[in-house]
Amino acid sequence: MSQAALVVAIDGPAASGKGTIARRLAAEFSLAYLDTGSLYRQVAFLVLEAGGEPTDEADALAAAKAVAGRDIEDDKLRNQLVADAASKVAAIPALRTALVDFQKEFGRNPPDIDGVASNGAVIDGRDIGTVIFPDAPVKLFVSASAEERARRRHLELLDRGNEASFGDILTEVKERDARDEARPISPLMPAADAHLLDTTDLSIEAAFEAAKSIVAAAF
Ligand code: DC
Repeated sequence: MSQAALVVAIDGPAASGKGTIARRLAAEFSLAYLDTGSLYRQVAFLVLEAGGEPTDEADALAAAKAVAGRDIEDDKLRNQLVADAASKVAAIPALRTALVDFQKEFGRNPPDIDGVASNGAVIDGRDIGTVIFPDAPVKLFVSASAEERARRRHLELLDRGNEASFGDILTEVKERDARDEARPISPLMPAADAHLLDTTDLSIEAAFEAAKSIVAAAF
């Protein structure tokens, strides 16, 4: 694309398939990819590492300042403790504000991919289509039932050789959804003009194909 960079905004709850769909769309259409959940997870990780409290504004802001100077391995961010703390820091308005500029800049000036200019950006999170890029030309809201999402998480953990109880995971999924949906600032919800993609009964392949035709229409 020669005009302004295309932004594809993808929102949805945990384990809805949005991350996988976003990554595959990025590869398919030469778009740079930003996983904004990872930003909240990095802040949460640093709060926990410093012995701070994820609901405390000063602790969260101090961690946000420290994020740029750290390169935290993704492995350390992908666990329930960090996910839960991420959902807590994400409810602090000042912390969300501190992360806005980085996200907007990424969408406005997406980085090159392997030295080649990208066509734009795919950005996924909870509030990308509603707050960060309300004018994004393509918005997807990816969802699935809580039971299906817990089932996927459970399989993922078992695959990695971790012990996990389906019931515990389902409870955690529901708690995190409730917190992300109920917060007064930037709650998890579809933008009015988002395409809704319910992946409960779809394979990842079918979900990707559906997303691909939506994005293809914007090129
Ligand atoms: O997508 P994820 O599971 O990695 O996100 C972790 C937490 O971060 C999620 O529970 C809510 C928060 N989050 C947010 O509030 N806004 C975003 N744009 C992305 C994530």
